[in-house]
Amino acid sequence: MRVAMVGSGYVGLVSGACFADFGHEVVCIDKDADKVAALKAGRIPIFEPGLDALVQTNAEAGRLSFTTDLALGVQRADAVFIAVGTPSRRGDGFADLSFVYAAAREIAAAMDGFTVVVTKSTVPVGTGDEVERIIREMRPDAEFSVVSNPEFLREGAAILDFKRPDRIVIGANDEKGASVVSDLYRPLYLNQAPILVTGRRTAELTKYAANAFLATKITFINEIADLCEQVGANVQEVARGIGLDNRIGSKFLHAGPGYGGSCFPKDTLALMKTAQDHGAPVRLVETVVSVNDQRKRAMARKIIAACDGSVRGKLIGVLGLTFKPNTDDMRDAPSCAIISALQDAGARIRAFDPEGMDQARKVLTDVEYANDAYSCAKGADALVLVTEWDAFRALDLARLRKILAAPVLVDLRNVYVPDDMRRHGFRYVSIGRPEAAPPRD
Ligand SMILES: NC(=O)c1ccc[n+]([C@@H]2O[C@H](COP(=O)([O-])OP(=O)(O)OC[C@H]3O[C@@H](n4cnc5c(N)ncnc54)[C@H](O)[C@@H]3O)[C@@H](O)[C@H]2O)c1
Repeated sequence: MRVAMVGSGYVGLVSGACFADFGHEVVCIDKDADKVAALKAGRIPIFEPGLDALVQTNAEAGRLSFTTDLALGVQRADAVFIAVGTPSRRGDGFADLSFVYAAAREIAAAMDGFTVVVTKSTVPVGTGDEVERIIREMRPDAEFSVVSNPEFLREGAAILDFKRPDRIVIGANDEKGASVVSDLYRPLYLNQAPILVTGRRTAELTKYAANAFLATKITFINEIADLCEQVGANVQEVARGIGLDNRIGSKFLHAGPGYGGSCFPKDTLALMKTAQDHGAPVRLVETVVSVNDQRKRAMARKIIAACDGSVRGKLIGVLGLTFKPNTDDMRDAPSCAIISALQDAGARIRAFDPEGMDQARKVLTDVEYANDAYSCAKGADALVLVTEWDAFRALDLARLRKILAAPVLVDLRNVYVPDDMRRHGFRYVSIGRPEAAPPRD
């Protein structure tokens, strides 16, 4: 089948490359000319494990191409995906749908013959109706169907997630649209990926409900971690103790500095606004949003407390800047809020991230960037582990202890074992775990 992917960012590029790998003929379209030029030259503008090889193989096989010319890609397509950004709108936190509607208008102007327009971007309930209205208004004669197909991939494991999804959700109000999109995913039937065909509004809401639920789970364990600190319990053991219950499950129960990234913050906020607008407020999610917001600055206070109550004039080393490992994505990364709060308190910041420093430089100014974990730690008054990249999981503790100006390590991801750290002479602070070895009862 012929597919046009409008928007070639984290989702569009991965989806486009994977569809091409299934054997479809895919054109990835983006209005960012630099991005398209890089892709045409074989350079991948983002960091996503395995994506460079997948793009290269499929481009060489002639199944995957790139263009800035939307009309060219859309005219021949059986299905046109909208995979543009839907960031939070400044001021009110509602999803900014201007990119989606602009794409819909451009698609309407270009489409030729029966076309299925598929929204892959995360969009509030009712957006599909509006996309349909826009296209119908511009092209009263056209034959088309608007389908919702929300994407659930995770950055850092995006290719695996796309090719082995837990489920595929297809929201359509007509059978023709649903069957074209189902056919596109047919290669995944082999892996028995469950396909859920629902109404369009249901599919749109399913995506937000999924993200809000995961954000709630993270926030729940973060609050339990705070309580653990007060009562001398260990949050990792509590998480294991509840996670082994199949009704709860062990995923997303890792206490940390609060969720961030390109999806959870904006999607929880957008769901909150949609629910308020419809007179059915989601109070649980409202609380999650506010608890998570406050947590980032609370992390900075934790770091300050570990530095004897003041970081004024002190040098703080920060390991890991991206919102999670294996991506270069800095959107809404907890590191940003934590670093700003430390700078507000008078700290100087030196940071290192294995893949995120180019993106970080655009959002975090006034930070000294190091070449590796050890040069980041050298002479620092404290070292803070913010993102749990593999490269930070087995640091040479004796070496670190020697090069730090003060032996303070704040581990916001609970990577290290408290007893080991004490043995190496660190003042070690982590999340929701007792500072002294707990008595065994
Ligand atoms: N990033 C994720 O992990 C993830 C996961 C699931 C869902 N989503 C959702 O997918 C959508 C896209 O997210 P992303 O992270 O890929 O965003 P992104 O910012 O990385 O990519 C969006 C791309 O669309 C391009 N674009 C915007 N308007 C265009 C137009 N009219 N024509 C052509 N190109 C246009 C931009 O230049 C950009 O390259 C969002 O709604 C997001 O919520 C993201």
